[in-house]
Amino acid sequence: MDMSLFVSIQAFCSDIENQFSRLDILIHNAAYFSHGEDYRLSTDNIEITFATNVVGPFLMTNLLLRHLRKSNDARVLNASSNIIKYFFSPNKKIDFNNLQGITDKSYNHSVYKAYRNLKMAFLMLTFRMAEVYKDFGIKINSLQINGAKMSKETLKKFKPGWRVIAHIQNLFFPKPEFMAQNYFDICTEETFKSTMGKQFNHKKEIMQPGPGKPTFKDIWGTVYYPVYATCPKVQEKVWTLCLNLTNDYLKNSEIPDNKQINLK
Ligand SMILES: NC(=O)c1ccc[n+]([C@@H]2O[C@H](COP(=O)([O-])OP(=O)(O)OC[C@H]3O[C@@H](n4cnc5c(N)ncnc54)[C@H](OP(=O)(O)O)[C@@H]3O)[C@@H](O)[C@H]2O)c1
Repeated sequence: MDMSLFVSIQAFCSDIENQFSRLDILIHNAAYFSHGEDYRLSTDNIEITFATNVVGPFLMTNLLLRHLRKSNDARVLNASSNIIKYFFSPNKKIDFNNLQGITDKSYNHSVYKAYRNLKMAFLMLTFRMAEVYKDFGIKINSLQINGAKMSKETLKKFKPGWRVIAHIQNLFFPKPEFMAQNYFDICTEETFKSTMGKQFNHKKEIMQPGPGKPTFKDIWGTVYYPVYATCPKVQEKVWTLCLNLTNDYLKNSEIPDNKQINLK
Protein backbone atom coordinates (compact mmCIF):
# COMPACT_ATOMS: atom_id res chain seq x y z
CA MET A 1 0.00 0.00 0.00
CA ASP A 2 1.39 3.38 -0.99
CA MET A 3 0.38 6.29 1.28
CA SER A 4 1.25 8.82 -1.39
CA LEU A 5 -1.15 7.32 -3.91
CA PHE A 6 -4.91 7.83 -3.58
CA VAL A 7 -5.94 4.77 -5.61
CA SER A 8 -3.71 2.58 -3.49
CA ILE A 9 -5.22 3.95 -0.26
CA GLN A 10 -8.70 3.45 -1.67
CA ALA A 11 -7.97 -0.18 -2.61
CA PHE A 12 -6.44 -0.86 0.82
CA CYS A 13 -9.45 0.65 2.63
CA SER A 14 -11.93 -1.42 0.60
CA ASP A 15 -9.93 -4.55 1.44
CA ILE A 16 -10.12 -3.66 5.14
CA GLU A 17 -13.87 -3.06 4.86
CA ASN A 18 -14.36 -6.37 3.09
CA GLN A 19 -12.23 -8.41 5.47
CA PHE A 20 -13.12 -6.98 8.87
CA SER A 21 -16.36 -6.05 10.57
CA ARG A 22 -15.02 -2.97 12.35
CA LEU A 23 -11.83 -1.01 13.05
CA ASP A 24 -10.77 -0.16 16.62
CA ILE A 25 -7.33 1.36 16.19
CA LEU A 26 -5.69 3.27 13.37
CA ILE A 27 -2.10 4.48 13.77
CA HIS A 28 -0.57 6.79 11.19
CA ASN A 29 3.11 6.04 11.67
CA ALA A 30 4.39 5.85 8.08
CA ALA A 31 6.44 8.79 7.00
CA TYR A 32 8.29 9.64 3.83
CA PHE A 33 11.40 11.76 4.08
CA SER A 34 14.14 11.47 1.54
CA HIS A 35 17.26 13.42 2.46
CA GLY A 36 18.37 15.98 -0.07
CA GLU A 37 15.66 15.02 -2.56
CA ASP A 38 14.60 17.60 -5.14
CA TYR A 39 11.03 18.86 -5.30
CA ARG A 40 8.80 16.06 -6.57
CA LEU A 41 5.07 15.65 -7.09
CA SER A 42 3.10 12.52 -6.28
CA THR A 43 1.01 10.81 -8.95
CA ASP A 44 -1.92 12.87 -7.66
CA ASN A 45 0.11 16.07 -8.21
CA ILE A 46 0.85 16.93 -4.60
CA GLU A 47 4.34 17.57 -3.22
CA ILE A 48 5.44 14.03 -2.34
CA THR A 49 6.19 14.44 1.38
CA PHE A 50 2.98 16.38 2.04
CA ALA A 51 1.00 13.81 0.02
CA THR A 52 2.42 10.87 1.99
CA ASN A 53 2.47 12.33 5.47
CA VAL A 54 -0.66 14.48 5.57
CA VAL A 55 -3.09 14.00 2.68
CA GLY A 56 -2.70 10.21 2.60
CA PRO A 57 -3.53 9.75 6.32
CA PHE A 58 -6.40 12.22 5.96
CA LEU A 59 -7.89 10.23 3.07
CA MET A 60 -7.36 6.89 4.78
CA THR A 61 -9.00 8.00 8.03
CA ASN A 62 -12.00 9.31 6.12
CA LEU A 63 -12.34 6.20 3.97
CA LEU A 64 -12.32 4.09 7.12
CA LEU A 65 -14.84 6.24 9.03
CA ARG A 66 -17.70 3.80 8.57
CA HIS A 67 -15.60 1.02 10.06
CA LEU A 68 -14.23 3.16 12.88
CA ARG A 69 -17.79 4.15 13.80
CA LYS A 70 -18.67 0.49 14.25
CA SER A 71 -16.18 0.27 17.13
CA ASN A 72 -17.34 1.28 20.57
CA ASP A 73 -13.90 2.70 21.37
CA ALA A 74 -12.28 3.86 18.15
CA ARG A 75 -8.91 5.54 18.52
CA VAL A 76 -6.71 7.15 15.88
CA LEU A 77 -3.13 8.11 16.68
CA ASN A 78 -0.97 10.31 14.47
CA ALA A 79 2.83 10.36 14.71
CA SER A 80 4.11 13.87 15.27
CA SER A 81 7.69 15.07 15.63
CA ASN A 82 9.71 17.45 17.77
CA ILE A 83 10.58 19.25 14.53
CA ILE A 84 7.42 21.31 15.08
CA LYS A 85 9.37 23.20 17.77
CA TYR A 86 10.50 25.37 14.86
CA PHE A 87 7.11 27.07 15.11
CA PHE A 88 7.88 28.31 18.63
CA SER A 89 9.63 31.09 16.79
CA PRO A 90 7.04 33.85 16.29
CA ASN A 91 5.97 34.64 12.71
CA LYS A 92 6.89 31.16 11.43
CA LYS A 93 4.02 29.89 9.30
CA ILE A 94 3.30 26.85 7.17
CA ASP A 95 4.00 27.57 3.51
CA PHE A 96 0.95 26.38 1.58
CA ASN A 97 1.95 28.01 -1.71
CA ASN A 98 4.05 25.35 -3.31
CA LEU A 99 2.21 22.15 -2.60
CA GLN A 100 0.88 21.53 -6.09
CA GLY A 101 3.82 22.72 -8.11
CA ILE A 102 6.20 25.59 -7.45
CA THR A 103 4.25 28.83 -7.68
CA ASP A 104 6.71 31.19 -5.93
CA LYS A 105 9.72 31.97 -8.10
CA SER A 106 11.79 32.59 -4.97
CA TYR A 107 10.85 29.20 -3.42
CA ASN A 108 13.84 27.06 -2.54
CA HIS A 109 12.74 23.51 -1.84
CA SER A 110 14.27 21.56 0.99
CA VAL A 111 12.88 18.32 2.41
CA TYR A 112 13.67 19.58 5.90
CA LYS A 113 11.51 22.68 5.39
CA ALA A 114 8.79 20.51 3.86
CA TYR A 115 9.00 18.03 6.75
CA ARG A 116 8.55 20.60 9.51
CA ASN A 117 5.68 22.19 7.58
CA LEU A 118 3.90 18.91 7.10
CA LYS A 119 4.34 17.72 10.68
CA MET A 120 2.79 20.99 11.92
CA ALA A 121 0.02 20.65 9.31
CA PHE A 122 -0.60 17.08 10.49
CA LEU A 123 -0.88 18.19 14.12
CA MET A 124 -3.35 20.91 13.15
CA LEU A 125 -5.31 18.37 11.15
CA THR A 126 -5.35 16.09 14.21
CA PHE A 127 -6.94 18.83 16.30
CA ARG A 128 -9.43 19.71 13.56
CA MET A 129 -10.42 16.11 12.84
CA ALA A 130 -10.80 15.36 16.56
CA GLU A 131 -13.34 18.19 16.73
CA VAL A 132 -15.20 17.00 13.61
CA TYR A 133 -15.40 13.34 14.64
CA LYS A 134 -16.01 13.62 18.35
CA ASP A 135 -19.75 13.08 17.83
CA PHE A 136 -18.89 9.84 16.01
CA GLY A 137 -17.11 8.60 19.14
CA ILE A 138 -13.78 8.52 17.30
CA LYS A 139 -10.89 9.80 19.40
CA ILE A 140 -8.05 11.30 17.38
CA ASN A 141 -4.78 12.24 19.07
CA SER A 142 -1.14 12.83 18.28
CA LEU A 143 2.12 11.57 19.79
CA GLN A 144 5.20 13.76 19.60
CA ILE A 145 8.29 11.69 18.94
CA ASN A 146 11.56 13.30 19.94
CA GLY A 147 13.62 10.51 18.46
CA ALA A 148 13.60 6.76 18.08
CA LYS A 149 16.52 4.57 17.03
CA MET A 150 16.54 4.39 13.25
CA SER A 151 16.81 1.04 11.50
CA LYS A 152 19.68 0.01 9.22
CA GLU A 153 17.33 0.38 6.25
CA THR A 154 16.43 3.92 7.28
CA LEU A 155 20.06 4.86 7.89
CA LYS A 156 20.96 3.65 4.40
CA LYS A 157 18.56 6.23 2.95
CA PHE A 158 20.57 9.14 4.45
CA LYS A 159 23.15 11.11 2.46
CA PRO A 160 26.68 10.42 3.87
CA GLY A 161 26.98 13.58 6.05
CA TRP A 162 23.52 13.16 7.50
CA ARG A 163 24.16 9.45 8.04
CA VAL A 164 27.02 10.26 10.41
CA ILE A 165 24.75 12.61 12.38
CA ALA A 166 21.99 9.99 12.42
CA HIS A 167 24.41 7.34 13.76
CA ILE A 168 25.37 9.71 16.59
CA GLN A 169 21.70 10.52 17.32
CA ASN A 170 20.97 6.81 17.38
CA LEU A 171 23.31 6.40 20.36
CA PHE A 172 20.93 8.51 22.42
CA PHE A 173 17.55 7.67 20.96
CA PRO A 174 15.24 5.19 22.70
CA LYS A 175 14.49 1.89 21.01
CA PRO A 176 11.48 1.73 18.66
CA GLU A 177 9.95 -0.79 21.10
CA PHE A 178 9.68 2.01 23.68
CA MET A 179 7.76 4.23 21.28
CA ALA A 180 5.67 1.29 20.03
CA GLN A 181 4.64 0.62 23.62
CA ASN A 182 3.51 4.25 23.90
CA TYR A 183 1.44 3.89 20.72
CA PHE A 184 -0.10 0.74 22.10
CA ASP A 185 -0.88 2.21 25.53
CA ILE A 186 -2.44 5.40 24.17
CA CYS A 187 -4.63 3.34 21.88
CA THR A 188 -5.70 0.75 24.45
CA GLU A 189 -5.45 2.02 28.03
CA GLU A 190 -8.67 2.83 29.85
CA THR A 191 -7.10 6.08 31.13
CA PHE A 192 -7.10 7.50 27.61
CA LYS A 193 -10.54 6.28 26.58
CA SER A 194 -12.04 9.77 26.53
CA THR A 195 -8.95 11.68 25.44
CA MET A 196 -9.33 13.42 22.11
CA GLY A 197 -7.68 16.25 20.22
CA LYS A 198 -4.53 16.12 22.33
CA GLN A 199 -0.84 15.79 21.71
CA PHE A 200 1.05 13.37 23.97
CA ASN A 201 4.74 13.44 24.76
CA HIS A 202 6.99 10.36 25.07
CA LYS A 203 5.97 10.04 28.76
CA LYS A 204 2.31 9.75 27.71
CA GLU A 205 1.61 13.13 29.27
CA ILE A 206 -0.76 15.49 27.52
CA MET A 207 1.16 18.47 26.19
CA GLN A 208 -0.14 22.03 26.29
CA PRO A 209 -0.06 24.83 23.73
CA GLY A 210 3.05 26.85 24.50
CA PRO A 211 3.12 30.12 26.35
CA GLY A 212 3.14 33.24 24.15
CA LYS A 213 6.80 33.90 24.91
CA PRO A 214 8.39 30.49 25.51
CA THR A 215 11.63 30.31 27.47
CA PHE A 216 14.53 28.10 26.43
CA LYS A 217 13.31 25.55 28.99
CA ASP A 218 9.82 25.54 27.42
CA ILE A 219 11.28 25.01 23.96
CA TRP A 220 13.73 22.34 25.02
CA GLY A 221 11.21 20.47 27.17
CA THR A 222 8.22 18.32 26.31
CA VAL A 223 5.48 20.13 28.23
CA TYR A 224 4.53 22.55 25.45
CA TYR A 225 3.98 22.54 21.71
CA PRO A 226 3.87 25.79 19.72
CA VAL A 227 0.67 27.75 20.24
CA TYR A 228 0.51 28.25 16.45
CA ALA A 229 -0.88 24.68 16.25
CA THR A 230 -4.12 25.88 17.84
CA CYS A 231 -4.83 28.63 15.30
CA PRO A 232 -8.39 27.85 14.05
CA LYS A 233 -7.90 29.62 10.72
CA VAL A 234 -4.83 27.61 9.78
CA GLN A 235 -6.44 24.39 11.05
CA GLU A 236 -9.39 25.15 8.80
CA LYS A 237 -7.02 25.81 5.91
CA VAL A 238 -5.32 22.42 6.28
CA TRP A 239 -8.69 20.68 6.59
CA THR A 240 -10.16 22.43 3.52
CA LEU A 241 -7.03 21.81 1.50
CA CYS A 242 -7.10 18.08 2.30
CA LEU A 243 -10.83 17.90 1.57
CA ASN A 244 -10.40 19.60 -1.80
CA LEU A 245 -7.46 17.44 -2.78
CA THR A 246 -9.26 14.18 -1.99
CA ASN A 247 -12.78 15.25 -2.94
CA ASP A 248 -13.14 12.75 -5.80
CA TYR A 249 -12.36 9.85 -3.47
CA LEU A 250 -14.66 10.90 -0.65
CA LYS A 251 -18.01 10.97 -2.46
CA ASN A 252 -19.42 8.07 -0.44
CA SER A 253 -17.67 8.78 2.84
CA GLU A 254 -19.45 9.81 6.02
CA ILE A 255 -17.77 13.17 6.64
CA PRO A 256 -20.27 15.43 8.38
CA ASP A 257 -21.45 18.52 6.57
CA ASN A 258 -18.69 21.09 7.02
CA LYS A 259 -21.16 23.88 7.67
CA GLN A 260 -22.45 22.19 10.79
CA ILE A 261 -19.04 21.97 12.37
CA ASN A 262 -18.72 24.37 15.23
CA LEU A 263 -15.24 25.89 15.08
CA LYS A 264 -13.78 27.06 18.37
N1 LIG B 1 12.97 8.09 14.27
C1 LIG B 1 12.93 9.30 14.79
O1 LIG B 1 13.92 9.76 15.38
C2 LIG B 1 11.69 10.15 14.67
C3 LIG B 1 11.71 11.45 15.18
C4 LIG B 1 10.55 12.22 15.09
C5 LIG B 1 9.42 11.70 14.50
N2 LIG B 1 9.44 10.44 13.99
C6 LIG B 1 8.21 9.95 13.36
O2 LIG B 1 7.98 8.60 13.77
C7 LIG B 1 7.37 7.87 12.71
C8 LIG B 1 8.20 6.63 12.44
O3 LIG B 1 9.51 7.05 12.14
P1 LIG B 1 10.68 6.03 11.78
O4 LIG B 1 11.95 6.64 12.25
O5 LIG B 1 10.31 4.64 12.19
O6 LIG B 1 10.67 6.16 10.20
P2 LIG B 1 11.26 5.17 9.10
O7 LIG B 1 12.23 4.20 9.71
O8 LIG B 1 11.72 6.05 7.98
O9 LIG B 1 9.98 4.37 8.68
C9 LIG B 1 8.98 5.00 7.97
C10 LIG B 1 8.03 3.93 7.49
O10 LIG B 1 7.10 4.59 6.63
C11 LIG B 1 6.95 3.78 5.50
N3 LIG B 1 6.61 4.58 4.31
C12 LIG B 1 7.32 5.56 3.73
N4 LIG B 1 6.67 6.01 2.63
C13 LIG B 1 5.56 5.26 2.51
C14 LIG B 1 4.51 5.22 1.57
N5 LIG B 1 4.46 6.04 0.52
N6 LIG B 1 3.51 4.31 1.76
C15 LIG B 1 3.53 3.47 2.82
N7 LIG B 1 4.51 3.45 3.75
C16 LIG B 1 5.52 4.34 3.59
C17 LIG B 1 8.31 3.14 5.28
O11 LIG B 1 8.17 2.01 4.50
P3 LIG B 1 9.43 1.44 3.63
O12 LIG B 1 10.45 1.01 4.62
O13 LIG B 1 8.80 0.35 2.86
O14 LIG B 1 9.89 2.60 2.80
C18 LIG B 1 8.73 2.84 6.70
O15 LIG B 1 8.22 1.58 7.10
C19 LIG B 1 7.29 8.82 11.53
O16 LIG B 1 6.00 9.40 11.46
C20 LIG B 1 8.33 9.88 11.86
O17 LIG B 1 8.05 11.13 11.26
C21 LIG B 1 10.55 9.65 14.07
